[in-house]
Amino acid sequence: MKVLGIETSCDDTCGAVVCDGAVASSVVSSQHAFHAAYGGVVPEIAARQHSRLLIPVIGEAMDRAGVTWGDLDAVAVTTSPGLIGALLVGVAAAKGICMARSLPLVPVNHLSAHLHTVFVAFPEVEVPHVTLLASGGHTLLCRVTAPGEAQVMGSTLDDAAGEAIDKAAHLLGLGYPGGPALDGVASRGNPAAVAFPRPIADRKGFDFSFSGLKTALAVYVRTHGSPADAGATSDLAASYLEAVVDVLVGKTITAAFAAGVSTVAMVGGVAANRRLRQAMAEACGGRGLRLIIPPPELCTDNGVMVAALGEVDLRRGAVADLAVEASAVASMPRWKGADAKPLVLSRMGDSSTAPCSGSVAAPHCEAVKGR
Ligand code: KG4
Ligand code: ZN
Repeated sequence: MKVLGIETSCDDTCGAVVCDGAVASSVVSSQHAFHAAYGGVVPEIAARQHSRLLIPVIGEAMDRAGVTWGDLDAVAVTTSPGLIGALLVGVAAAKGICMARSLPLVPVNHLSAHLHTVFVAFPEVEVPHVTLLASGGHTLLCRVTAPGEAQVMGSTLDDAAGEAIDKAAHLLGLGYPGGPALDGVASRGNPAAVAFPRPIADRKGFDFSFSGLKTALAVYVRTHGSPADAGATSDLAASYLEAVVDVLVGKTITAAFAAGVSTVAMVGGVAANRRLRQAMAEACGGRGLRLIIPPPELCTDNGVMVAALGEVDLRRGAVADLAVEASAVASMPRWKGADAKPLVLSRMGDSSTAPCSGSVAAPHCEAVKGR
């Protein structure tokens, strides 16, 4: 089966073609240059850039895959969660293609698509496994039981890990997007130089909170002044990053044991962080857990994860009619303990398939991220 995947939930315009589970093409047009001046993603700019870029991106993805419209079996598109104006562009394009070519449309949940990158990169991965999804808009710990089936064990109560990193980078004058810059600067610093808090690290459960940590950095800079030189900046960045990493690693390991799994995966843009990868590898290795991380191009936003999960859902018959709507938020099935039944995460928000224990206001990127 050949599926075109479209992803426009935040600031990357993505198109990809997957053929029988194999990646035939992937095109990502990053909008970073358009948002850099504002220090974060501006939703209106994101939507306008998607409108401008999406058709060429899809065309390029089709060309590179060597497929024509007539070859496609379906179009999969991210319908939630995300910036509503940005999502609408992808959903409208997908509907147009499906209507013109009489193709089925497969709605895909962005978070479930991120989780699915583990199956794309490691088709033989054992289930269940626990995946940490850490990106600019989300921080989730999930128990994944099959492609498209997962339960959320914990999520952030406020800022996402990537958002906390981006905001710290902004405060330290490291530019936008701040993650890769902070990664480099922190690698030269002393992680024990400043004792930052580890927010709700000891609280029962697997939820995260990063806004207090961000405030702690702001207070530190206000009290001690901006770092005087590159060495002091590195120490501050390393200490801050260490607090983020400590919490992410600690909760992930605890979740893995609580869920009774022996494999841990990490996805999302923050999974590219070198210190996080090192610390997670050490923690897993020391406890007999297997750690797997998809390649960086699958960790950040991409169309492959949408097309690949779309193909799985297409085979299950989980297609939508053309009245399907984009949604900024998605309902979240929660893990209820070892005996809970797996819930279908890929169709989150459809109450007929995914009983919900609550809904999460999950703005994929906030109005001006990084400020
Ligand atoms: O998954 P992603 O590309 O987009 C979202 O869905 O948000 O994640 C982007 C996030 C940003 O916050 C970015 O700063 C962070 O991932 N990031 C990193 C690194 N590379 C990207 N954070 C820390 N270290 C990195 N090397
Ligand atoms: Zn994402």
